[in-house]
Amino acid sequence: MLSGTTTSTCRSTDSEAPADHQADARRRNFLYQDGVVVSSVLRALDSLGLLDTGPGQQCGLPETGYLGVVRRCLASVGWFDGDAQPATWTPSGRAALRHRDHLVAAGRLLARFAGSAPGAWKTWDAETSDAFSAAVGRFEEWHAGVEQDELVGACLEGALLVPVMLSLRADEGGDRLPRDVERFLALLGWVDAECRWTQKGRAFREFGDHFGLAGSSLPLLARLEELLRGELVVHPGDDAWHGGRELHVWAGSAARRPFFADADPIFQEMFAYGRPPAFIADMGCGDGSWLAHLHAMLGDSVRYVGIDASPVALDAARRKLRAAGVRDPLLLSGDVASPQELGARLAEHGLSIEDGLHIRSFADHGRVYRGGSPSDVPGTASGAYVAPDGTPLSAAAVEADLVAHLERWKPYIGKHGMVLVEAHSVPPHVASQHLGALHAAAFDVHRGLAHQYPVEYSTFMTCCRRAGLTASSHLERRHPATRPFVAVSVNRFVCAQPNPLEVIQRRDRDGRPGAPAVAGQDLVTTARAGDWRPEPGSDLDDGRGLHELLYFDSDLSQPRRWSAGATGVVVREVMAAINARAEQARRGDVIRVLDYGAGTGLAAIELSKVCIAQDLPERLAGLGIGFEIHLVDLPTGWFAQGYELLKDVPWARFHSLRGEDGQFRGLLDVMAGDHVDVVMANMVFHLLREGPMRHAAASIADVLAPGGKLVFNAPDLGPATRNSVLFHDPNRLLRKHWLNALDAADPSHCPAPLREAVALVRSSDRVNAQKRADRRILPTPQSIEGVAAALEPFMTGTSFSQTFELLAEENLATALVPSNQAEFLAEITDRTTREKVIRFIMRECVFPELGKGSAGTGLGYNIEWKFGVFERL
Ligand SMILES: C[S@@+](CC[C@H](N)C(=O)[O-])C[C@H]1O[C@@H](n2cnc3c(N)ncnc32)[C@H](O)[C@@H]1O
Repeated sequence: MLSGTTTSTCRSTDSEAPADHQADARRRNFLYQDGVVVSSVLRALDSLGLLDTGPGQQCGLPETGYLGVVRRCLASVGWFDGDAQPATWTPSGRAALRHRDHLVAAGRLLARFAGSAPGAWKTWDAETSDAFSAAVGRFEEWHAGVEQDELVGACLEGALLVPVMLSLRADEGGDRLPRDVERFLALLGWVDAECRWTQKGRAFREFGDHFGLAGSSLPLLARLEELLRGELVVHPGDDAWHGGRELHVWAGSAARRPFFADADPIFQEMFAYGRPPAFIADMGCGDGSWLAHLHAMLGDSVRYVGIDASPVALDAARRKLRAAGVRDPLLLSGDVASPQELGARLAEHGLSIEDGLHIRSFADHGRVYRGGSPSDVPGTASGAYVAPDGTPLSAAAVEADLVAHLERWKPYIGKHGMVLVEAHSVPPHVASQHLGALHAAAFDVHRGLAHQYPVEYSTFMTCCRRAGLTASSHLERRHPATRPFVAVSVNRFVCAQPNPLEVIQRRDRDGRPGAPAVAGQDLVTTARAGDWRPEPGSDLDDGRGLHELLYFDSDLSQPRRWSAGATGVVVREVMAAINARAEQARRGDVIRVLDYGAGTGLAAIELSKVCIAQDLPERLAGLGIGFEIHLVDLPTGWFAQGYELLKDVPWARFHSLRGEDGQFRGLLDVMAGDHVDVVMANMVFHLLREGPMRHAAASIADVLAPGGKLVFNAPDLGPATRNSVLFHDPNRLLRKHWLNALDAADPSHCPAPLREAVALVRSSDRVNAQKRADRRILPTPQSIEGVAAALEPFMTGTSFSQTFELLAEENLATALVPSNQAEFLAEITDRTTREKVIRFIMRECVFPELGKGSAGTGLGYNIEWKFGVFERL
């Protein structure tokens, strides 16, 4: 333990009432991590004489990549506005700088812990102990003051906690605390008057592992001035001064561990229903925790290969896997940027790289930059990136490098795909609104200074798509699930195929509809009598418009993320219900799924893809069980497009909800008396008012077999939260702005596109147009409680929420879908004028208004989706 101070014995106490210490500890922990980098940055700026002006363009420092990292760090906590002209401290930054002496002193204390030698934490020299003691005194003084700022507090506490927690860890469970540490921990309420750990203290201590990351970055932060003056360039991986390796491995493992369980369903699906790989290879395996976790689930049914660039990590992994009882693990030196080299190493051990499932966590953004051709990348990443020579790197360069990196892996993942747990950056203006829910400042500084390249989730997914990869949406997990950003995503990626349904489409050798392409489909029911089909020559323009909004370039392997994630949740639940039903079904039974309000077939397409991935046709054929998906909708252009897309899929059936008399038909009538096992309603229930929803609920209940499941999602059911909006809120705003223009006392003051459109509107059209608009998008959204109330007489179940980003450009495309725009702004009959108005209002009013609010994601808005899983009583 620490030298030069007296100690007292510390025990645990259980006497306090349980409280939500865990959530508090989690939040404070994020703040502490940000606080450590912020106080280190302020210390460096102070020593460079830049604390008054801030690190703006005119600060006199060379324009290195490191300067960009520093600016971004301060912007992420809301203290510096690098976009202002000139860049400047924000009001909250100026308020925080009232505590500048405390903050700089905290940074100076941290700079004392710049040694990276193993054991550096355990023994403090007398000078360091004295500095710590003085820092505790200063903290007590600040703590007693009236003016408290949460982030400033976190900077000061974090600066003291990093050395405390890391020395406690180094002391391996020693229970004697130095007096100064005890004083400090008592002030935080972590230990009581008798120096026993309180419940709060124990909850916070559980997050102690995360201090490793902060600790391992201190050597680098201590030399920030040199980096900023352009006197030093980081050489990633140079252990001598950029963080202790052992600490790094340990901290890395702590950061990744919480996400391993999220990936379990991916492995379960592959091993239960797919074709299992010969081995699982974890690139950047660290201390081997993920492989040990997988071994606990899959046993020795597969070989485990750990790969890392660090010998310290490989040693730790060897120990961990041995302790976990893994049979014959293979541990190899390797680099995430060099799959080819990995292939050669595996071959030396008799393994072919293509036969393995390649997995990695937080490894891809840590690749060494090699560059790529920056055409065809969005250039939307907001991070501050450093080139190998220390100069700034543009977003487009980083994205092109990511695409090239993924393309290098592509030749090796055709059989089993790859599983990526990836951490993402968050734009500063979003991060600064969610302090304590993420540690964006710390993450960006650690990664940025170490020449690593995290990008935002949506940019990451775009780069994967550009590399020809596609994610299995039903297996995706994202953290957090209800905020306007994704800090960590978990995905299985496979190589995109031009038509993922081709394998089951009934085609003969010449490509004409006919024979099934995979064995066993003969038992999938094939009769099609009574199917609805669109009138010959139906206009598919509108359907194509919607389809394009659901799939990039209308490519069925690439669903757009705004709806793919939420549809994936529905598909996951439906698939679970199908598999459960398959276990009980008897030979000759038919498993039926009904897609209610199928539209252009998104949910049925995504479900069919998973059926294929899980070998459902062959499995059911082996059991003598049939399978059908019944698509049901009003006979519109959207449904006609759905028919076009799915008509060759052997299990797809089509039914019109409208009878020949033009009236709605009950679903049992639609199904000619056959009951179904699952009803899915993807993006439908928000369209139904109270009465129609009650009818729909009764009709669904009627057609569901007892014990059957209803699974739904809806993006426009209230309530939204502080951090989200409903799907049609931007469209409601669009209409509001349009009506304001229409009703303006003097329309000549309106901007040109509105003025011109207003002049064309006939007042006699307005009542009818308002009715049409209200039918298209309910002026006041229905609520999830209303939907649940309609279902409750027949079913029991639960509902939940999750949010997904809708990009501003996708929002605009939704409003421009022909039937949407024609109904929603029905006052404007000329399509060209109408589109001008929509573009103008969306770009000039709606995006700025919502995008800058608390639901703004940077590139769009955070949409609140409601989900329900109900069972027929
Ligand atoms: C937003 S689209 C969703 C389509 C599809 N489920 C998907 O996920 O892409 C809503 C669909 O619900 C259908 N719909 C509208 N009112 C309905 C009703 N009362 N019953 C069933 N479907 C309805 C529409 O025709 C439309 O196809």
